[in-house]
Amino acid sequence: MTANQPASFIHDPGLEVLITEAQIHTRIGEMGEQITKDYQGKNLHLIAVLKGACVFLSDLIRHIDLPLTIDFIGISSYGASTKSSGEVKITKDLDKSPTGKDVLVVEDIIDTGLTLNYLMNIFQSREVNSINIAALLDKPERHEIEVDAQYLGFTIPNLFVVGYGLDFAERYRNLPFIGVPKDPDAFVQSKG
Ligand code: IMP
Ligand code: MG
Repeated sequence: MTANQPASFIHDPGLEVLITEAQIHTRIGEMGEQITKDYQGKNLHLIAVLKGACVFLSDLIRHIDLPLTIDFIGISSYGASTKSSGEVKITKDLDKSPTGKDVLVVEDIIDTGLTLNYLMNIFQSREVNSINIAALLDKPERHEIEVDAQYLGFTIPNLFVVGYGLDFAERYRNLPFIGVPKDPDAFVQSKG
């Protein structure tokens, strides 16, 4: 970096890289290929969970070589804290009914599993043709309820991660990699 260049948040946000941009890219390519095979002739409709899944959705759909549609649902389960309240609130409902579609719910991370469990229940009650989950990350040690994700990017240890759509207090979503804080005290973690 020369003296004239501004400090780069993206290149030096004070995090250790857990999963690189290249690793994410490769894995999403593989997931897209598998989804392309599995959804031939179906009515593929991806529903992404805002806001964390928006970056993953954007990359994933460009690796699915099929006609498809997308929708978004807004959920809040975390405030500025890293502890899941276990309460799930819909902050933005679907634009279109998923009835009769082959729904793929796209989520950034499975932590306790409470959010996806809740969403699977409400989508199933809307008479979809089929329903599966594509999650970029999974933290098995944190599960309180088991959800069956057909398409899973990476299994990670019990760490609070940010980047690639995932935030801490709404920040870090723009990082192209998944990172963890160098100083764990920087993100006060109060796990239930
Ligand atoms: P769950 O309901 O506990 O499975 O988690 C739901 C949501 O919590 C995820 O969609 C994320 O938005 C958020 N979350 C869980 N773990 C992390 C993390 O390590 N970093 C950032 N957000 C997380
Ligand atoms: Mg989320």
